[in-house]
This record gives sequence, structure tokens and C-alpha cells, in this order.
Amino acid sequence: MKNICVLVSGGGTNLQALIDAEKSGEIKNGKITCVISSKEGAYALERAAQNSIPTRVIPRNAYGDVAEYTKAITDALKEEKADLIVYAGFMTILDEQIVKAFPYKMMNVHPALIPSFCGKGFYGLHVHEAALEKGVKLTGATVHFVTEVCDGGPIIMQKSVAVENGDTPEILQRRVMEQAEWKILPKAVSLFCENRITVKDGKAFIDLES
Ligand code: GAR
Repeated sequence: MKNICVLVSGGGTNLQALIDAEKSGEIKNGKITCVISSKEGAYALERAAQNSIPTRVIPRNAYGDVAEYTKAITDALKEEKADLIVYAGFMTILDEQIVKAFPYKMMNVHPALIPSFCGKGFYGLHVHEAALEKGVKLTGATVHFVTEVCDGGPIIMQKSVAVENGDTPEILQRRVMEQAEWKILPKAVSLFCENRITVKDGKAFIDLES
């Protein structure tokens, strides 16, 4: 059974999708053992507590530079014996120390079809604002491994979502979450825990069930 540690900063609807998937048995061979928040008072912490999942708060604003903060998060994850780390609405950029400590053991959910609308500055609602500004007709979500390149690691899963006339960033965000993020994130987590994802030449491949 793999220990899954989830990093959060906000509302935690993706965390909730993981909790629900664990309860329903959709996540095979994995258990959420810890939730770490970069913000005090994040509602994600409440969701964890309601499900008796241990939590830690490591506030970003209590640390000076990125290196110091990355070390604090990395040390906590080592203490928690994390096998898989999921960035689920984790809004803080960490440096390469953590990538070296957990190579291809960290995944992030991003609310667009990478390589569109990704990288520095593209997070949360801003991603949907940019998609609407561009006028794309399809957007979606991506789950990828975390590397030192922001939103640049091997892509594990993607799902497209239609943009509709009259969408606001908020409406589009909700549709992308419902139709894509909450579906592909638990799937990718289960595949990882079942040892069914391999990375070759910088690309992720899902092993078909035998
Ligand atoms: C989600 O849409 C997630 O994809 C996005 O923030 C939201 C968090 O929601 N993450 C990023 O933009 C990271 N670059 P949640 O806290 O309800 O899961």
C-alpha cells in the first residue's frame, strides 16, 4: 500500500475527489496518509479532518526564500514516508531540491490542456481567464509529473472540456473541475499506486492491464 501525501493551498475539491475515490475503492493500492497545506485556514484542511486524515500546515509566509520553504516541505514528506505526492491546488512553486528527493513521484493537476495556458502565472482562475481571452473552443485538464520545469513534466493523463458561449472564468473552472480534474486525478493516482506508469525519454506511458 502506497502512502499518498496531498499538498493543498485552498478549497480542496480535488482532495475531496481523491478522498471519495479512496472510499469507493477506485484508488487501488494507495491511501491518503497526510495533507499538507501552504496556508492556514484552507478549507482543504477541514475536508481532511472530517475524514480523519492527519494534516500539517507549513505556511509559505513563515519562510524567507524558496529554498528554505522547499526544504521544510521536503523534510515533512520524508517524515511522512510519502510514496506519492499529489499537488492538488497547491499554489506555491518549489525548487529542484524536492524534485531530486522524489523523482517522478510527484504529480500535479493543471486546469488546461498543457502546453496551452501553463507555466508561471497560469494558476487557478487565471488559466480560465486566459482560455476565454484567447477564444479557444476546447480546454480541459492535465495530470503530469512534477519536474523542475513549471508545468513541464511528463504528461500522464488529459481530458478535454468544451467552452460554451457565455462562459465566465468561474463557470468554465467549475465545468473543467467536474468533467475533467475530479475524474483524471483519481485515475492517475490509482495507476501510479498500481505501478502502471512508466517514464521513458521524458514521456509517461500507462501500462495496459494484463
Ligand atoms: C484547480 O482547478 C487546480 O487544477 C488548480 O487550482 C484549482 C484548485 O482547486 N491548480 C492550479 O492552477 C495549479 N497550477 P481545489 O483547491 O478545489 O482542488
